Amino acid sequence: MTKEIKFEQNYINNKLQNIVNHDLISFHMPGHKKGKIYDKLGYGKLVKDLYKMDTTEIIETDNLFSAEEIIKDSQDRASKIFKSGQSYYLVNGSTCGIQAAILATCKPKSKILINRDCHQSAINAFILGDVEPVYIKGSICENTYTIQGVSEQDVISAIDNNEDIKVLMLTYPSYYGMVFDLEKICRYAHEKGMMVIVDEAHGAHLNLSDKLPKSALEQGADIVIQSLHKTLPAFTQSSMLHVQGDLVDKKNLERFLKIVQSSSPSYVLMSSLEIAIDIHDRYGKGLMDNLLNDIENFEADLSKIDGVKVIKGHDATKVFISLKDLGINGYDLEEILRYKYNIQVELSNYYGVLLICTIGNEKNDFDAFLEAIKSIAKNFNKNHDLKIKQDNLNQKEAELIHINYPNIIPKKVLSPREAFYSDKKEVKLKDSIGKVSGEYIIPYPPGISLTSPGEIITKEVIDYILICKEYGMNVSGLKDKSLDIIEIIEN
Ligand SMILES: Cc1ncc(COP(=O)(O)O)c(C=O)c1O
Repeated sequence: MTKEIKFEQNYINNKLQNIVNHDLISFHMPGHKKGKIYDKLGYGKLVKDLYKMDTTEIIETDNLFSAEEIIKDSQDRASKIFKSGQSYYLVNGSTCGIQAAILATCKPKSKILINRDCHQSAINAFILGDVEPVYIKGSICENTYTIQGVSEQDVISAIDNNEDIKVLMLTYPSYYGMVFDLEKICRYAHEKGMMVIVDEAHGAHLNLSDKLPKSALEQGADIVIQSLHKTLPAFTQSSMLHVQGDLVDKKNLERFLKIVQSSSPSYVLMSSLEIAIDIHDRYGKGLMDNLLNDIENFEADLSKIDGVKVIKGHDATKVFISLKDLGINGYDLEEILRYKYNIQVELSNYYGVLLICTIGNEKNDFDAFLEAIKSIAKNFNKNHDLKIKQDNLNQKEAELIHINYPNIIPKKVLSPREAFYSDKKEVKLKDSIGKVSGEYIIPYPPGISLTSPGEIITKEVIDYILICKEYGMNVSGLKDKSLDIIEIIEN
């Protein structure tokens, strides 16, 4: 008989097992929602056996980096289903796909046109490949204070003003499900001889319904990177990179995919990608119809509760809920949901919480959430009942923060790579005005870098950070959490 092992010092396993035992309701990534979708659709045994199938490149298992047999067949099927020219499995998340795409299309010292709120993996690629970003400003949503994305007009003007740049990269959709007319942008960029890379990390599910925004591939992007683990039922880190058209040098791209991924790519993750794609193909559209229906009813019911605001993205699977009008900020709401109602959301900001709903969610997940919100709205009283952190911002102060937000792209004097390798020195925040920043300054929300390494620190930014400090807002990037000190680069 096999002996059951005691897990005293298995810190990670104990915590995860505990979460499994609590049957936490998931409105966060990964998209398989604690694996429930596998059991429901009959993939349970396959998934449970994955540890036995964990292997390496041996006879008959092919090779991710020169796929000719099973991996090629699997990727070819994915390409057919996603209607790409060619699709590649990624075992290091969209992070590595974004990096390979940038490194393969931008030579050292060349420029790339990119949205300011691009993912950190893109910035890291600029450091690695000595690429010069030229940023396009995005806008911020009034209600949720989150990133809304770029406007078509701003991108088109940026293309017109930068005729020497040959690569445009955009994030589509945003984390919060906002989109723009990518088709028009792709058409315009192509007319000007520009290649378009799309970070569609949050949009692998978009081709499952006509009620969702069109996917980046449908709209003509040349390279598209998708995190299947975020919005489809794949394991964390399982992503895909698709290519279409003839602007991309695939051989060069493949060289970089090999550089940015492990030389022992995980067969468990590749299997998980194949399962997610199989579910997408066989059941995806029906499940998405049901999901969109459940979300519509859920939002209608939530909107009937006094003080509850539902803020919809263009992608209906992203639901932002605000209880600010009841005096409950998003950070507190996340904790109440988790510790009182066993529900975990994807994230919170001052204004509310974001739910990532996928085909792995069931109607009863929405029912449980609705009951929780009804109960919170009815019973919440700041002075007693729930022991939560007190809201240290009132609405007026929040508005003040809103008004003062300096949504401008500062002057850049050093490239990301030059800034990365430069010596840094610590100074008091107020003494840093006019100096070259050695750190990122990223207030949350909205989570866009106000100043990046190599850029000039302005008075507007420092004044804003001081307001953030006063009201206890979260500012990431700076090593000094008390927001007194910043690293600068002396030139
Ligand atoms: C917009 C965006 N792009 C790329 C990534 C990286 O994706 P992955 O976690 O698959 O590496 C993220 C991760 O959260 C993201 O939000």
